[in-house]
Amino acid sequence: MNDTIAIFASARRNGNTGKFIDWIGNELDIKIIDLSEKNISPYDYEHKNLDDDFIPLMNQLLDYEKVIFVTPVYWFSASAQMKIFIDRTSDFLDLEELKDMGRRLRNKTSYIVCTSTSNEADRSFLNSFKDIFEYLGMNYGGHVHANCENGYSPSEYIEDVKKFVQLFK
Ligand SMILES: Cc1cc2nc3c(=O)[nH]c(=O)nc-3n(C[C@H](O)[C@H](O)[C@H](O)COP(=O)(O)O)c2cc1C
Repeated sequence: MNDTIAIFASARRNGNTGKFIDWIGNELDIKIIDLSEKNISPYDYEHKNLDDDFIPLMNQLLDYEKVIFVTPVYWFSASAQMKIFIDRTSDFLDLEELKDMGRRLRNKTSYIVCTSTSNEADRSFLNSFKDIFEYLGMNYGGHVHANCENGYSPSEYIEDVKKFVQLFK
């Protein structure tokens, strides 16, 4: 089995970020999970949402050693759907019965695939992901970014994608 999975979250499936991850996903021959197809509700202090799709999705994700987080940069940050997904990992910290699940994230390797309309992926965007990975005990494997200022233009990212895909070989 391929040891890598991608978690994708954008406000549109076939926009810049969707096309970018489809290309990379094809190179790596990996499964791409679209968070907008899942019913994952925002973090709840009372955990009344434990029967939504979050836990089954995490169970699926925990079968993989490498996880690619895929999101556009929206307001110097991840997309709202991605943020909700990340917030929900707090369930693991809160609930005794889920702590083991949270521990299984440790030592997995995380990557970021992102698009924006800037030359580089925003510093605060990348740093917040790196801090999250560190907090969860995950390694950081690297990122690839596509500047879509003039639309999605794959010929501009060929070298970057080549380098990124090499990280998985
Ligand atoms: C709500 C929103 C916020 C955005 N914020 C930023 C930003 O902070 N920095 C940036 O460079 N681009 C920003 N952009 C541009 C997107 O990152 C860029 O167009 C991206 O490629 C969109 O990907 P998508 O087609 O998957 O939505 C923003 C776009 C939207 C819709």
